Amino acid sequence: MVGYVIYGRGSFNQLDEILTPRRQAGGRQGDAPMVFLVDHFFEHQPLAQRIPLRGRDKIVFVDVTYEPKTAYVDQLAGELKQEFGTVSGIIGIGGGSAMDLAKAVSLMMTNPGSSADYQGWDLVKQPGVYKVGIPTLSGTGAEVSRTTVLTGPTKKLGMNSDYTPFDQIVLDPELTADAPVNQRFYTGMDCYIHCIESLQGTYLNEFSKSYGEKALQLCQEVYVKKQGWDEDSDDKLMMASYAGGMSIAYSQVGVAHAVSYGLSYLLGTKHGIGNCIVFDKLEEFYPDGVAEFKKMVEKNKIDIPQQVTKGLTDKQFNAMIDVSLVMKPLWENALGKDWEKTMTRERLRALYEKL
Ligand SMILES: NC(=O)c1ccc[n+]([C@@H]2O[C@H](COP(=O)([O-])OP(=O)(O)OC[C@H]3O[C@@H](n4cnc5c(N)ncnc54)[C@H](O)[C@@H]3O)[C@@H](O)[C@H]2O)c1
Ligand SMILES: [Fe+2]
Repeated sequence: MVGYVIYGRGSFNQLDEILTPRRQAGGRQGDAPMVFLVDHFFEHQPLAQRIPLRGRDKIVFVDVTYEPKTAYVDQLAGELKQEFGTVSGIIGIGGGSAMDLAKAVSLMMTNPGSSADYQGWDLVKQPGVYKVGIPTLSGTGAEVSRTTVLTGPTKKLGMNSDYTPFDQIVLDPELTADAPVNQRFYTGMDCYIHCIESLQGTYLNEFSKSYGEKALQLCQEVYVKKQGWDEDSDDKLMMASYAGGMSIAYSQVGVAHAVSYGLSYLLGTKHGIGNCIVFDKLEEFYPDGVAEFKKMVEKNKIDIPQQVTKGLTDKQFNAMIDVSLVMKPLWENALGKDWEKTMTRERLRALYEKL
């Protein structure tokens, strides 16, 4: 779990105070810097000016055009090791992509080899350097989860480990205020889908249920009950993301995630929108959730892309199916221990063809 959590409008202003006791001596020139990995969207935004730089601290604007790849993580960690030897901490500021990059780079500052070697469950053996997550979009739960999702040479799979969670997170709903409506919806639905998949999964327990129910209720208030968007929506969705992430931390996601990983691996479809494309077609698995999802799509006037797999070759369908079936815990959570008997390649192919 995340060690320290701070929540509230304007809490970003406390970042300097939060980092000060974590600054360490060491590195090539005596002081090990803090390195801020910031979503490139903020390069020319006022937020970049508010980052509390000291000494040799550095801001790296990270490219999140594509979701994080193992090669990019290795490159970032390699450059930092070369420039500084060691750093005091890595602070990720942005959506799920920038936060995941920060988690992975922190781990690769201390673990040998390539981040691709650690895609899986509990393969990371060393704690990373101190790491802080500061979300600017709400929904992924990456701020609390024990994974960082990476696309590697052969698979799209996270570095799931006890060393992956942030040491500190700063939840400031003001930072999400200017997110584009569509993006905010897709990322918000990631949270909604986490809740449904967790609450309807076979891994469910009271811990996951307690958080999942609260997150679901907050999502419903924001997307079903409220008219329009205001500060209260940002406040609620940030806590929904947190609670939704806590819910899956002790259970798992399900069919939508397992299928959308394949889509993203082959077509580069982003996580939030990919989950929406898939969830839209999952009535047979999550009838109530999908019915409510369709209502939210309509009420919020969002377009969900259709026919994205039209015209793909057998080889391409097989590539997606292969990636999806690697996600064994997700399928087991969704369908139970005997999932391999019911989720055949043919059935999965038919599902991909519907998207
Ligand atoms: N680690 C986990 O547990 C976990 C869980 C779910 C998803 N993820 C990962 O999170 C990523 C998806 O994250 P996401 O949906 O937050 O989107 P994202 O981080 O990919 O960002 C989407 C777009 O929004 C922009 N953006 C970010 N904040 C903004 C703001 N405040 N205003 C305007 N634009 C802004 C970004 O520059 C980018 O163009 C995927 O890589 C996915 O694999 C991780
Ligand atoms: Fe997700």
